[in-house]
Amino acid sequence: MQGAGQPIVVLDFGAQYSKLIARRVREANVYSLILPYNIPAEELRAHQPAGIIFSGGPAGVHAAGAPKPDPAVYDLGVPILGICYGVQLFADMLGGKVERATAREYGLAHLEHGDSKGFLKHIAPKTQVWMSHGDRITELPPGFEVIGTTEHSPYAAIADAKRRCFGVQFHPEVIHTVEGTKMLNNFVHEVCGCKDSWTMHNFVDQAVDEIRAAVGKKKVLCGLSGGVDSSVAAALIHKAIGDQLTCVFVNNGLLRLGEDELVQRVFRDHFHINLVYVDAEKLFLDALQGVTEPERKRKIIGNLFVEVFEQEATKLGHMDFLAQGTLYPDVIESVSATGGPSVTIKSHHNVGGLPEKMNMALLEPLRELFKDEVRALGRELGLPNEVVGRHPFPGPGLGVRVVGEVTKERCDTLRQADAIFIDEIRKHGLYDAIWQALVCLLPVRSVGVQGDERTYEEVCSLRAVTSEDAMTADWYRFPPEVLQRVANRICNEVKHINRVLYDVTSKPPGTIEWE
Ligand code: XMP
Repeated sequence: MQGAGQPIVVLDFGAQYSKLIARRVREANVYSLILPYNIPAEELRAHQPAGIIFSGGPAGVHAAGAPKPDPAVYDLGVPILGICYGVQLFADMLGGKVERATAREYGLAHLEHGDSKGFLKHIAPKTQVWMSHGDRITELPPGFEVIGTTEHSPYAAIADAKRRCFGVQFHPEVIHTVEGTKMLNNFVHEVCGCKDSWTMHNFVDQAVDEIRAAVGKKKVLCGLSGGVDSSVAAALIHKAIGDQLTCVFVNNGLLRLGEDELVQRVFRDHFHINLVYVDAEKLFLDALQGVTEPERKRKIIGNLFVEVFEQEATKLGHMDFLAQGTLYPDVIESVSATGGPSVTIKSHHNVGGLPEKMNMALLEPLRELFKDEVRALGRELGLPNEVVGRHPFPGPGLGVRVVGEVTKERCDTLRQADAIFIDEIRKHGLYDAIWQALVCLLPVRSVGVQGDERTYEEVCSLRAVTSEDAMTADWYRFPPEVLQRVANRICNEVKHINRVLYDVTSKPPGTIEWE
């Protein structure tokens, strides 16, 4: 992004932590980019990096096909920080020695150092770090010195001050490395000399200029889902081009309680955005009648959405751009675990094929942002917390949470149960500690007793997970009294439910949604 300052480039060697490193750099108010490890040095130079970070990686440096950077990156004259595999790499490539350790060092260790400048400025002389590596450096490359050790790693932190090259065997980006954020801050500010130029406040001004320049006097269409990404994209574009933006919001009958009112209140009443509201509940529920197979449900919902959206868009006359809330993790060229570069570009399911069909260009103003930055941007733009702080919600909505056949009655039942679960989570102050909380209505009935009466009603399952990026997830440990209160309220207040379960499956093997 122009005007964001010179970036710190994270070279991705296939580490699970590459994105985390890039996020931490941005948290230090410095723009970061993730690029594949094998990018030619000349291409890298064109990005004008202020510094380069070699990520960790799953391979050992001597493994067949181990990913290695273009050797000319060492000659760019740019500071380098090598993390884990990254430090072993440059130790190996610059003339040191790296050997397979007899035991893999994994877990907590204590870094001891007597350095108080550069990378280790203001770091306690003994500080907890998190190690995870198989190889170890046994001989330093010429020009390097040890700047920190741990009990089992005599070369835990090394540096060549002249080259401005630093390396650590541990992971400064994970929270278990207590002063890791400070170390990364030191690298970007003290070593690379970056200024605090990456803030959401600055981003708004730059993005507004860029959107205006790209759109000119033309028209933009945006599909609003009520989710964080499309909401923030719409608010940002509206700030840039006002009435040249029209949003279409399709109520597919599979939304959460009060969601359609919330979207209209925020966008039409508060932001005064041109909003087309389409009530398509009956259309979707009719199409889903009798369908129970999850993938078929998804297809029907996805295709119908495109159809309805297209019809509405046609009524609006020609639109030049289609806005999408695509985020940075969707566009990073990632490196697969085997070291081979692979491109993973997720397309948003809900507008599939529309831009080509309708002859529209794509406008993706969030494509450089991580999710937490999108939230910060939303706040900067004045969106209410109910919108920007909201848990993720799948495109097919309650269609994949009403397990089995989707009917209006079952959706209404689920909506009430879901609202109670979320209400209690909020009342107990737990909402932000949870990545996503949801209720599924199961295709099972069970016997219960309410008052003096035998009941034979529906069963629901609560699910709440913690996660970094939805790729893996763990079930949330609620205090038992919260679960008890939710179960009581659901059985008492929701007409057709008489039994409540709590799902304690992690991902993998379970997915977050049931279908
Ligand atoms: P799973 O269930 O695969 O979900 O563990 C991972 C994350 O993605 C969300 N999800 C979807 N989002 N369209 C979406 O926009 C979909 O079809 C879809 N399916 C799952 C899910 O809610 C979770 O956050």
